[in-house]
Amino acid sequence: MTTLLHVVGARPNFMKVAPVLRAAAALPNMRQYLVHTGQHYDAAMSDRFFEDLGLPAPDVNLGVGSATHSVQTAKIMIEFEPVLDRMKPDWIVVYGDVNSTMACTLVGVKKGVRVAHVEAGLRSRDRSMPEEINRIVTDALADLLLTPSRDGDENLRQEGIPESRIRFVGNVMVDTLLSLRARARELAAPSAHGVAGRSYAFCTFHRPSNVDQRETLAEILGALDDLAGRMPVVFPIHPRTRQRMTEFGLDGLTRRVTLLEPLGYLETVSLVDQSTLVLTDSGGLQEETTMLGVPCLTARPNTERPVTITEGTNRLVPSTRSGINAAVAEVLAARNNGGYHPGRPEGWDGRAGERIASLLTVS
Ligand code: UD1
Repeated sequence: MTTLLHVVGARPNFMKVAPVLRAAAALPNMRQYLVHTGQHYDAAMSDRFFEDLGLPAPDVNLGVGSATHSVQTAKIMIEFEPVLDRMKPDWIVVYGDVNSTMACTLVGVKKGVRVAHVEAGLRSRDRSMPEEINRIVTDALADLLLTPSRDGDENLRQEGIPESRIRFVGNVMVDTLLSLRARARELAAPSAHGVAGRSYAFCTFHRPSNVDQRETLAEILGALDDLAGRMPVVFPIHPRTRQRMTEFGLDGLTRRVTLLEPLGYLETVSLVDQSTLVLTDSGGLQEETTMLGVPCLTARPNTERPVTITEGTNRLVPSTRSGINAAVAEVLAARNNGGYHPGRPEGWDGRAGERIASLLTVS
């Protein structure tokens, strides 16, 4: 019998655990537990994703909530330790790059429990990003590093990690996208939002580097409003961004933009799939737009997902009004000259969950 303890905490983790849980459940002699740290807790940021993805209710919710990075990380560690003692897994499986990923890795390795990291090896080389710190610490400590793209293997080798700990498995987010794309289409979210059959843009922004300074956020919102003068701009707002807009008195800047509450997974995919372009600072959307063949402008100076640029539809743009406006103009011109095509990096084939599950069995 092999016991897996999967740890999730924040919105982008939920799409990643779903295919691994499903693939492992199909193997014999597998027991699985799902622990939710409670890093994200609003219905729109968490429960809705569990429903859309068909995830089982977590066996345990640590209920840590929001706090400073240190307090949140420490709380997760304190609450996770007794759960780990009780569940006694053969493997802890952690996902992505959020604080929950790093916190539970630290607890696990200190207690001598093996840790597998799904989405290992990604690097932005930007240590001002909290996620980059989480990635570096998690990969330095975890026993099995499961990479979504070949650049991940190379990054890990360059950090001196032995080959025996690295396994290229492909992209689990893509498993979820491919398995749910048809259901997302049936939802017809563009009709519900009045943009069906029209050119429209979909956008999300939540990175501290883009939304925590008034000037930067004002530049981005100004560019979205400029674009909204040309076509509908659908903008589901992350709670962090909503708070900052109000705090900085920027609510009036987006009068022409269609502001929405955070959306679930299916509704997001449904809207992205039919959109003319995506403007974002999300990691996941860079990958999803590549798979769907939708041009993506990522307002960041770097990306930990370079294959979305070299083999996909992604492009980095400065977080300025003029920079975004210039890039939008180029995307719209390119659309009239043949447009964009879906990218298919190696291992982005819908089978990553199966490859991961097969590596986690204990004989
Ligand atoms: C976290 C992840 C980030 C990921 C993002 C996706 C880290 C370091 N960051 O960032 O990598 O891209 O999730 O959303 O782990 N809040 C709510 N309701 C919630 C959750 C948060 O209102 O359910 C508010 C709180 O005021 C909180 C703020 O949003 O302070 C930010 O939440 P937090 O989890 O700290 O970071 P994210 O920006 O969501």
